[in-house]
Amino acid sequence: MSPTTHYWNPVRITFGTGSLDRLPEILSSLPGRRVAIITARDILDAIGVEERVMKLAGGRELFIYDRVRPNPEVSQADEAVRFAREHRAEVILGIGGGSALDTAKVVAAAAPNGGEVMPLLEKQRRMTEAPLPTVFVPTTAGTGSEVTRWATLWDHEAKKKFSLESMAMYPTHAVLDPALTLTLSPVFTATTGMDALSHAMEAFWNRNANPVSDAHALEAVRRIIDVLPLAVSSPENLEYRSRMLLASLFAGLAFSNTKTAAAHSLSYPMTLYFGVIHGQASSITLPALLRFNAEASLERMTQLAKALGGNSIESGAKRIQVLLQRVGLQTSLSELGIDAAGIELCVREGYTPDRAGHNLRDLDAGGLREVLQMVA
Ligand SMILES: [Fe+2]
Repeated sequence: MSPTTHYWNPVRITFGTGSLDRLPEILSSLPGRRVAIITARDILDAIGVEERVMKLAGGRELFIYDRVRPNPEVSQADEAVRFAREHRAEVILGIGGGSALDTAKVVAAAAPNGGEVMPLLEKQRRMTEAPLPTVFVPTTAGTGSEVTRWATLWDHEAKKKFSLESMAMYPTHAVLDPALTLTLSPVFTATTGMDALSHAMEAFWNRNANPVSDAHALEAVRRIIDVLPLAVSSPENLEYRSRMLLASLFAGLAFSNTKTAAAHSLSYPMTLYFGVIHGQASSITLPALLRFNAEASLERMTQLAKALGGNSIESGAKRIQVLLQRVGLQTSLSELGIDAAGIELCVREGYTPDRAGHNLRDLDAGGLREVLQMVA
């Protein structure tokens, strides 16, 4: 860590049960009366807020794009951008999990900047215009996208993952209403919750870590390890949902300034080639990485292990394994259909400089293999 550090997060955050009802004053604070909602139909139906949002929008013109798919394709993002441009949207309201919020973030950025996503992803076109103002309403406790400045898109056929990023892409406003996460199924509660744990831990074993991100990261870890099993086993308990959403927000604030590291870098081939859901893929290597990174900083990894409720690296790693099991997720790659050849594929494809390069301990192919073999 450098002696001087810098932390920046400009997102206005409204948190608490019923905070969706603050939408009128939030929208009033933004320029523009034409609002494009970017979401997925199944999410909108599950949380049953469509009519409520219509009322809360108070006379604004609302246009709903509800075709966001999980792990969104670039072509789908293009379709959403076209939708926003055709309706001359002035404000983007993202409602959903990471896929919906990331798509909304891309729409806000691309709509005033040429309208095509790929030239922005491939940096053939610069973002000269500011993104449209955004209001993000997460319906899962895990993505963190409501407080970060990047969005992930995929090309499943070409087995590629893209990231669009800019300091101008921080959402304008995040509205975190725990009541909206009540209908999340146990498996999505588990995977998104473990993703939040991964964001927090990856922010901590990160070369970009600073005292502010550290405080958010450790607090997130302490909270998630306690409350996630309760949120999974008692899905209708609003207090657990609220605690989990706040923990996810802390994790988001932590990695908003550091980005992720090795666990996320290794997760992308697991998702692209083996169809492993993001939060399972991004958390399965956490116990192994705690051990691996202890070689680089025993002191910092011990701090993390303590936040996990352990008194050593080993017991901290064990606590994550037990958590994965308690919330119904897998702890080994073989259970996910990733065999020795699959591990080699993940080693080949799993080094994203912008992620793995942030890992506290240097990582090369040998290091990636070592980590993956610990969870084979
Ligand atoms: Fe993640």
